[in-house]
Amino acid sequence: MAKQTTTTPCTRTHQIGALALITITFFTTRLLNQPLSHSPVLGSDRFEGGLRWPERGYGGRLDVKVYVYEEDEIEGIKVLLYGRDGSVKADACLKGQWGTQVKIHRLLLKSRFRTHKKAEADLFFVPSYVKCVRMMGGLNDKEINQAYVKVLSQMPYFRLSGGRDHIFVFPSGAGAHLFKSWATYINRSIILTPEGDRTDKRDTSAFNTWKDIIIPGNVDDGMTNNGVRLVEPLPLSKRKYLANYLGRAQGKLGRLQLIDLAKQFPDKLESPELKFSGPEKLGKTDYFLHLRNAKFCLAPRGESSWTLRFYESFFVECVPVLLSDQAELPFQNVVDYSQISIKWPSSRIGTELLEYLESIPDKHIEEMIARGRKVRCLWVYAPDSEPCTAFTGILWELQRKTRTFHHSPETFWLHNGSIVNRDLVEFHKWRPPMPLP
Ligand SMILES: *[C@@H]1O[C@H](CO)[C@@H](O)[C@H](O)[C@H]1NC(C)=O
Ligand SMILES: *[C@@H]1O[C@H](CO)[C@@H](O)[C@H](O)[C@H]1NC(C)=O
Repeated sequence: MAKQTTTTPCTRTHQIGALALITITFFTTRLLNQPLSHSPVLGSDRFEGGLRWPERGYGGRLDVKVYVYEEDEIEGIKVLLYGRDGSVKADACLKGQWGTQVKIHRLLLKSRFRTHKKAEADLFFVPSYVKCVRMMGGLNDKEINQAYVKVLSQMPYFRLSGGRDHIFVFPSGAGAHLFKSWATYINRSIILTPEGDRTDKRDTSAFNTWKDIIIPGNVDDGMTNNGVRLVEPLPLSKRKYLANYLGRAQGKLGRLQLIDLAKQFPDKLESPELKFSGPEKLGKTDYFLHLRNAKFCLAPRGESSWTLRFYESFFVECVPVLLSDQAELPFQNVVDYSQISIKWPSSRIGTELLEYLESIPDKHIEEMIARGRKVRCLWVYAPDSEPCTAFTGILWELQRKTRTFHHSPETFWLHNGSIVNRDLVEFHKWRPPMPLP
């Protein structure tokens, strides 16, 4: 119960006291609610031994059938994958923080949970690499919109369920807004995205916590593979800084405040001016060498609320400090984020934050890091032949969305089980283009 003892003599720490109180209350409530056989040690049993995580949060058996639309099967899918003239290379889209759109597709193609029969599928995956394609100039916003609408209009199964059993990946901060008319066409579908909020420039968030799934960002393969890593973590005592923030300001208040704070306290907080392009561009390895050199890695909000730095922290083994109030995190059924990270109000970025972080004993930091080490397999995009990966986590989440029956306002059924449309045409005779939405 280390958190109880962290109340410091410092007089400026009312809210820390409050935090500790909340923790104690929370903890006691938990103890009372749990059978005594459970380890009372702050949930640290969660990832120990024979991987208790899926059972704990998802049930005992993964048994889901996903149909993956083929690129030749439906006109327009190739455009969503490779651009208007087919010139964007998928391998080029595999890297970087948005690589999930390719990785999830490829992992599904090889997955034992893939089915080739639409009639037996629980869910349908619509492949698309539009984030990457758009960046490479392969499609503009209008073309993306047209391509999606064209693709959807050729899918009888999409019409049958009103899209409820169809899965889309939107890997960036824009979320489903990448498809401008998402609200008209896919607002009932399952959206996989790292972004739980994109309200800063638009009036609505495309993310709906009850149907969509938050996925981890794509951490560089060089850091996540099991063998030799690009950069190994440093022992706590060898780290030069208390905290760091490595990123561009992008004119964002929280980031500007951190950069300012680093100028005031250069021995405690590292926040160098980083070049992300040009000859002085910080290379991948250098970036992680910096990142590992602090006990805490600060992850402020940028253009959008999710931040890759949060996930990267676990691979250099610094404790991530989330400074992004609206951020949503993946796999909340099984991960108790208060055990492995800190979330601090973005409205309180300042010396108070540094003082608070300084007050945390190394022993406690080590414990958080150790727990994070057990959980981080869930941020790694590896095949489902491995028991704990981001992909398996996503499959477990998808399984929670499956239903025996899917219908829409335009779907009807008769006494003999025949599914028909409003004109009483049987489902197997529905012919594209399907009316939309
Ligand atoms: C979803 O789309 C339908 C059909 O266009 C619309 O009636 C409904 O209001 C939309 N819902 C949301 C949440 O946008
Ligand atoms: C179900 O009943 C409808 C209406 O009587 C009929 O047109 C249709 O052929 C039947 N379907 C099957 C599969 O028996």
